[in-house]
Amino acid sequence: MFPRRTQVGIVGAGPAGLTLSHLLHLEGIDSVVLESRSRTEIEATLRAGVLEQGTVDLLRDCGAGERMLREGSVHHGIELRFDGRGHRIPLSELTGGRAITLYAQHEVIRDLVQVRLASGGTIVFEAANVSLHDFDSAKPWIGFSVAGVANELACDFIVGCDGFHGVSRTSVPAGARTEFSRTYPFGWFGILVKAPPYAPELIYAHHARGFSLVSTRSHDVQRLYFQCDPADAVANWPDGRIWNELDARLATEEAWDLYRGPIFQKGIIQMRSFVVEPMQFGSLFLAGDAAHIVPPTGAKGLNLAVADVQVLADALADFYGQGSRDALNRYSVTALERIWAAEHFSWWMTSMLHRFDDADPMQRRLQIAQLNQVAHSRALQTALAESYVGLPLPVRTVVGEPSRRGGRSVSIRAQP
Ligand code: FAD
Ligand code: PHB
Repeated sequence: MFPRRTQVGIVGAGPAGLTLSHLLHLEGIDSVVLESRSRTEIEATLRAGVLEQGTVDLLRDCGAGERMLREGSVHHGIELRFDGRGHRIPLSELTGGRAITLYAQHEVIRDLVQVRLASGGTIVFEAANVSLHDFDSAKPWIGFSVAGVANELACDFIVGCDGFHGVSRTSVPAGARTEFSRTYPFGWFGILVKAPPYAPELIYAHHARGFSLVSTRSHDVQRLYFQCDPADAVANWPDGRIWNELDARLATEEAWDLYRGPIFQKGIIQMRSFVVEPMQFGSLFLAGDAAHIVPPTGAKGLNLAVADVQVLADALADFYGQGSRDALNRYSVTALERIWAAEHFSWWMTSMLHRFDDADPMQRRLQIAQLNQVAHSRALQTALAESYVGLPLPVRTVVGEPSRRGGRSVSIRAQP
């Protein structure tokens, strides 16, 4: 019923797994995606919203970006708000015209699933008991069951794109991986509200009561977050309390009115930084949240996942096209350089913008001093903007046939 062999077996149909499968398809490489949840579930899970310029370019160039370009909203700046005042960071002006696009992650998932299935791709939904075998050899295989029936999928390579709680990373013996981790002493309370946009651009606000963020999803759905105790419960936050808290944290010297539309979704998100090294073990590669997590303050998670698989798809294309393993062997080192840069940016944004309960008055003054510097220094704003819109991808070093992605070369890598 299911294929018994493929070139690349992919675990997880998140942004990483689906993008990889599609990029491989455009290179003429066969893959099968195994996903533990149903199509309906993955297409309804609400998560990220900010797409970097490079992510937008890639989705467009590989033929999965049509709806994103139509429905997403392009932002050329963000606001930093503290001490009752807003300071605009003109992202595009500072980065040679690069911008971010607000388009929900589950919409990206819908688009990628549709494109994969339309081009004859195999995504096995509701795959249970996924297990990885013999990836220390050249003949790895994946075990899984569907509706109680056991299956085996033989592959040349396995790619673990199954998120932080998946099976891929932990299949690697503990002694063969090094993990770096930090859990923050706060979480984010996120809500979705039926309301028109509150502001033309995202607002990242620091306040003595804690951080808050004004984001958007569409012309009539808005996404708001505020820093909370990670052990808090949604039930402790009736709508009125949420609005009072947001009003207090977002107050400015000028009149600023937060329209209290109906809240139709509430949830608490934990904040963590995590990296595993290396991201390759024999024939097994890790990509996306399976290998690293960032706190959402820098809006980097989905974008990093897409960047990882772009590097990996290129390396696999070199392997199948030229018979070269060089880029595959360098995958982990190449991907980790960008990942650590994003880890640093996300940690920096998180540290600068949140309230730390154990901070003494000296530390609080220093935090405000840093925000003031960013608000007034073009050099610091440029550094923030470059990271926020996304660092360029590494240059492909092996010159081969022109890529077949979307029928034209995808030359979005920066020149050295
Ligand atoms: P995932 O999206 O986690 O996908 C993994 C898939 O694997 C899932 O579908 C899962 O069901 C499946 N799976 C798990 N275990 C198994 C198994 N054993 N077998 C088979 N399948 C399995 N990032 C941004 O870039 N910008 C943002 O604005 C942003 N905002 C965020 C806001 C929130 C509230 C949260 C929670 C995250 C946010 N992120 C953001 C992070 C972003 O959502 C993740 O980094 C991104 O989803 C990672 O993609 P992935 O494909 O690596 O993993
Ligand atoms: C979101 O819209 O969900 C969002 C925006 C910016 C972030 C994180 C999340 O930094």
